[in-house]
Amino acid sequence: MSKLWSGRFAKSGAKLLDEFNASLPFDQKLYEEDIKGSIAHSAMLAKQGILTQDEADAIAKGLLDIKGEIEAGSFVFDIAHEDIHMAVETRLIELIGDAGKRLHTARSRNDQVAVDFRQYVQKHNRILVDCLESLMDVLLKISKEHTTTLLPGMTHLQHAQPINFAFHLLAYVAMFKRDIERFESSYTRHNVLPLGCAALAGTPHNIDREMVAHALGFDSVSVNCLDTVSDRDFALEILFNISTLMMHISRFAEELILWSSYEFKFVTLSDEYSTGSSIMPQKKNPDVPELLRGKTGRVNGNLIGLLTVLKGLPLAYNKDMQEDKEGVFDSVETAFMSINILKEAVRTMSINGEKMRQACEVGHLSATDLADYLVQKCNIPFREAHFITGRAVAHAEHLNVDLSHLSVEELQKVDARIGEDVLPYLSLENSMNARTSQGGTATASTCKQIELFEAWMHARK
Ligand code: ARG
Repeated sequence: MSKLWSGRFAKSGAKLLDEFNASLPFDQKLYEEDIKGSIAHSAMLAKQGILTQDEADAIAKGLLDIKGEIEAGSFVFDIAHEDIHMAVETRLIELIGDAGKRLHTARSRNDQVAVDFRQYVQKHNRILVDCLESLMDVLLKISKEHTTTLLPGMTHLQHAQPINFAFHLLAYVAMFKRDIERFESSYTRHNVLPLGCAALAGTPHNIDREMVAHALGFDSVSVNCLDTVSDRDFALEILFNISTLMMHISRFAEELILWSSYEFKFVTLSDEYSTGSSIMPQKKNPDVPELLRGKTGRVNGNLIGLLTVLKGLPLAYNKDMQEDKEGVFDSVETAFMSINILKEAVRTMSINGEKMRQACEVGHLSATDLADYLVQKCNIPFREAHFITGRAVAHAEHLNVDLSHLSVEELQKVDARIGEDVLPYLSLENSMNARTSQGGTATASTCKQIELFEAWMHARK
């Protein structure tokens, strides 16, 4: 079969070349974007008098028929066509004849692939935002039920201060909110039409790029054609945004793995989202969060892969750039699945508030509160209060009890200035509720955070 570009060639290419050169096995995913872009392009060509209206109508009809064939599974994807652009164009010419041969006027595959791929990325920026919103809904719903559920806040994975479970979940809500903002800001920055740049330098045909931008939902038209056909920043940004999102998901996953272990038992993942072992009958494994953590490595690879592909390329299009797509498809699909399964795993897990509370009773979580008491009630400088509290902790360890269970008499052995009024400071609830500063863990402050996140979500609807 002769290729659309075969005019200057005396011999046809080797089969091995076809296999090596083709992107059709993966870029067929872009068929819809390709067809939309071509319909907008031909409508513009007709309005500009470059095609007749009849030709543009025949093209649009032919393209929609091709879309139907692809969706029905009857379209024959032949690797010899190289990519989705030429596969569709070849079929169009088969279906409608000469009018089909006029479609590629004032266009090149370089701006065509750019507009197809950008439409795909823009569509998925939005889809991922929608998924993240529903994940945030689930987290906010659980948060509302747990603003008084104590659990140990940690640093260095060591018990630090008592916090509440909602406060902990809201940390992830804050991350996912920033992820949404990142996808949206990338969307806005890159909502620019590449089509009409042709191979690299523009076209002598009197085209109307604004019309095409409008038809395809872009806000504006790119400024410099040489940049436009070389630019894959939009792809890099979705990869980076997904890497950051997956890093957040992975941290959450790591906590779910820890929390569902026997050592913690803070949560139990539902059977629906847990797996068994082929040899150890008793096991219930957290495969879902483990895979979420593992997939983060893959998406990071995709980001570094594309950065590396692009880093040494001279302007403008180079075939290296065909390597831009698979990693993006993979990251997008991975992120999509990851958000959805995380949402379900979290929605269906049970939360063991009793275990969380018990965990607060070891590790002297109210130590900072004793130091704060010494500062506030005894007017002792914080550094000295810190030292005294350290000795109280050592004394508690010696007696093998938690600091929060030391009697006033025992505390007074450490420092005689400590009075009866110290006891409320040592209670875990009071410790958590004392942190009323903006963004702090006190239940009142946590509720305020829920309100702020909900207002943000509400304003978007
Ligand atoms: N399949 C190519 C890609 O994915 C389309 C652009 C080809 N352009 C070219 N001048 N060979 O990048």
